[in-house]
Amino acid sequence: MDEWESQLSPVAEPEEREDEATLRPKRLSEFVGQPRVREQLDLVLQGATRRGSPPDHVLLSGPPGLGKTSLAMIIAAELGRPIRITSGPALERAGDLAAMLSNLAEGEVMFIDEIHRIARPAEEMLYLAMEDFRVDVVVGKGPGATSIPLEIAPFTLVGATTRSGALTGPLRDRFGFTAHMEFYEPHELQRVLRRSATILGVDLHEDGAEEIAGRSRGTPRIANRLLRRVRDYAEVRVDGAVTREVAQAALKVYDVDDLGLDRLDRAVLGALVKSFGGGPVGVSTLAVAVGEEPTTVEEVCEPFLVRAGMLARTPRGRVATAAAWTHLGLPAPIEAFGQAGPTLFDE
Ligand SMILES: Nc1ncnc2c1ncn2[C@@H]1O[C@H](COP(=O)(O)OP(=O)(O)OP(=O)(O)O)[C@@H](O)[C@H]1O
Ligand SMILES: [Mg+2]
Repeated sequence: MDEWESQLSPVAEPEEREDEATLRPKRLSEFVGQPRVREQLDLVLQGATRRGSPPDHVLLSGPPGLGKTSLAMIIAAELGRPIRITSGPALERAGDLAAMLSNLAEGEVMFIDEIHRIARPAEEMLYLAMEDFRVDVVVGKGPGATSIPLEIAPFTLVGATTRSGALTGPLRDRFGFTAHMEFYEPHELQRVLRRSATILGVDLHEDGAEEIAGRSRGTPRIANRLLRRVRDYAEVRVDGAVTREVAQAALKVYDVDDLGLDRLDRAVLGALVKSFGGGPVGVSTLAVAVGEEPTTVEEVCEPFLVRAGMLARTPRGRVATAAAWTHLGLPAPIEAFGQAGPTLFDE
């Protein structure tokens, strides 16, 4: 497959960071969607404020681009406290963490992004810090080393992770509140888009917002990225107004189809259905068929295809569901699904 850039990765592009900062909701009331998380967090924060003590440590868990970093900053803003930001990979040495922790003032928020990637010694230091607001600083090396207990100010740790399953039990248990972020509904993404359009000064019509929202894979980051692509098209090719027709034409240029699949997604489905009769087929065979690395197929394409109900991962390999045939405009083979229709696992 020739070089082409997908607009649909849920992971932030480096040049996207600045735009993201502009579009980030700043307060809980501005944060769209995630009603359960918002309500729970609101109670946690208000309860703590009333008691005049820092709230429990908060773990934000969910796929990329759903608003974890945004929420971390909102927590600090709602508490009216500064936020100190670091990440799991940056905390390679326990000393780095000790330095950060001992510099915290009372009630401050410490945000550790990608907390599942924290190194073991730092993680162990974190246990004590989270539980007793204390760190043991080791001075010296070898048999002469001594550990000096150091008090730290009560603080709130906010951790974010895309892989909560990769967290150790002891670390997970030390969070008083875990927010599980869900994919967004199209009408919620429409609200995200309206808000972003206002900030960016884009003339976004309601039907244009609906069209973009439906193709954004339940992910605000993707919605905002598609909005920027569609804005370019609208400004260059038409009068700047983003209507449904303009959004459709623009997203065609970027190979984003009406369900939010791109060229590689469709190539994978096409190979699965046409070359392998719908499977089961191993992921490496499938990857060769579309000229991609197996990890790309597995990590970039499959999560969404599975979620969209078009592909199933089975012990014998990948299998297309009836929805895959339908989406490619092909009749689903009756013998694969029976007369009753597309329920794959009911035999
Ligand atoms: N609920 C929301 N309301 C409005 N905009 C949102 C919301 N959630 C996310 N966004 C937008 O999506 C962008 C990405 O969100 P954010 O960086 O918080 O995601 P994340 O979960 O931290 O992603 P990652 O796992 O890659 O770190 C933000 O810049 C913001 O513009
Ligand atoms: Mg983030």
